[in-house]
This record gives sequence, C-alpha cells and structure tokens, in this order.
Amino acid sequence: MTKPDIRLTVDYSNLAKTYDASRYEGSIAEFRLSYVLNTITEMIEPTSNMKILDVATGTGKAALALADRNAEITALDYTDAMLRIAQQKTKDADYENIQFVKGDAANLPFESNQFDVVVSLNFLHLFTPVHRQKIFVREMHRVLRPGGMLVIELLNYYQGVFIGPLRKRFGYDLGFNGPGDLPILLHPEFRIDHVVGGHLPGMWRIFYPISKMSMRTSQSLASLTRYRPWKYFAFNLFIQATKA
Ligand SMILES: C[S@@+](CC[C@H](N)C(=O)[O-])C[C@H]1O[C@@H](n2cnc3c(N)ncnc32)[C@H](O)[C@@H]1O
Repeated sequence: MTKPDIRLTVDYSNLAKTYDASRYEGSIAEFRLSYVLNTITEMIEPTSNMKILDVATGTGKAALALADRNAEITALDYTDAMLRIAQQKTKDADYENIQFVKGDAANLPFESNQFDVVVSLNFLHLFTPVHRQKIFVREMHRVLRPGGMLVIELLNYYQGVFIGPLRKRFGYDLGFNGPGDLPILLHPEFRIDHVVGGHLPGMWRIFYPISKMSMRTSQSLASLTRYRPWKYFAFNLFIQATKA
C-alpha cells in the first residue's frame, strides 16, 4: 500500500502575517471567534491540573483561550511563522502555562497516553479524503490517556445544503458527508459524545450588520445549530468524543 500524502498545498508561512487579521478581526469574525471559543471551553471545562494538547494551533487561538483557566497547555504546529505569532500573543497576554512545540500532527512527538484532552480546530478538513484525516485521528488517540477527551472542529459538508454539494461538484470534497457520517472518521478509536453545529452559513453577514444584534442575541441564534435539524445545515461542526 502506498503511503498517503499528508502534506498540504497551502503554505502557512506566507499566510501567517495576515492570518488573524483576515479571519478573526471585524465584528462578524469576532462573533464567530467568540462562538468557537465559548463552545470548546464549555465542552472541555479546563481546570488547573488538566493537560491539554492543541494540534495545529496556528496562531494559538484555542491554546490562549484554554490557558485562561490555568490548564497546562502544549500547542503544536509545523509552521514556524504561525508558531512565532502564537508565542508573541502568549507573551503579550503574560501566560506561562503554554508550551509550544514544532512538529507534525501525523507523527506527534509525544509519548502515548499522556494528555487529558486533545483539541484541534479548523484542521482535519484540510486533508481529504477521510483516510488521510484518519492518520491524524489515530495519533490524537495514541497520545490521549484512556478515557481522555477529543474536541475537534470541522467544516460541515452540507453547509446550508447547497454550498457543500456545490463545492463537492467543483472538486472541493470535504471527504465526509455531515454529522451522520462522522463515525467513519472517528470509529473505532473514539466514542462520539456530542456533535453540535457552529453558526449557520452566511447568517452573520446578513443579520449582524443590519440589525447590529447584540452578541448575546447572536449567540442565542447561533445556538440553534446545536439542535436537529439545524445542525445539519451548520457551517462548521464541533465534535466531542472519548478515547474508547
Ligand atoms: C487553518 S490553520 C488552523 C489554525 C488554528 N487551529 C485555527 O483554528 O486558527 C491550519 C494549521 O495547520 C498547520 N498544519 C498543517 N499541516 C500540519 C501538520 N502536518 N502538522 C502540524 N500542523 C500542521 C498549519 O501550519 C496551520 O497553522
């Protein structure tokens, strides 16, 4: 069997400088960011003695949010330029509980069974089809302690029903078909505990600027995607699973 190619065509060294500004700045992006961080913080409930690994930390979005609760964070990425930004943000925020590691998520430089939680946001869907994603999932499983928690964020294939199939039609196949198909990605290594949707696609671009909805109202509307049938149309999915 030939070894699957797990390299990305995107070079994050070139994107690093503009990464945060292009994704997380501005009112809509800030809303989405706070929604993501609230969702993972609620799922993980970090405490001071928890050992958390953030796989493909990028500019440190999850690592910094979770460090706020004094957990012991290890943040891994293989792009130096992304790690440098995450490190600067950590220094600016005065956190001493984040350790940065350069490494490949397909071959994690850690011993087995040592983390309480592995989190990975906005990463796995970059590798399609599913058999490539599974290489990372197996590594996440290996480094988690028995009973440990996995929290991942992925783009949802359906994305408002039309967008997903259209993207697939034009060659951007996310590799799986939506919440019901996640077992292909995670079983048998993990038991899936919760799948919740992020926001509805396009919704914030339309409503937020027009109505200047308060953050609270926006969060409540976004929470709709935690429930059926709305979660099937969510832009992104958050999955909480336990090491089987
Ligand atoms: C879309 S960014 C996501 C970053 C961050 N988790 C977020 O949500 O903002 C993808 C990240 O994956 C990293 N990456 C890509 N392939 C990797 C690999 N094999 N091992 C570790 N990191 C990798 C890139 O350097 C980049 O920082």
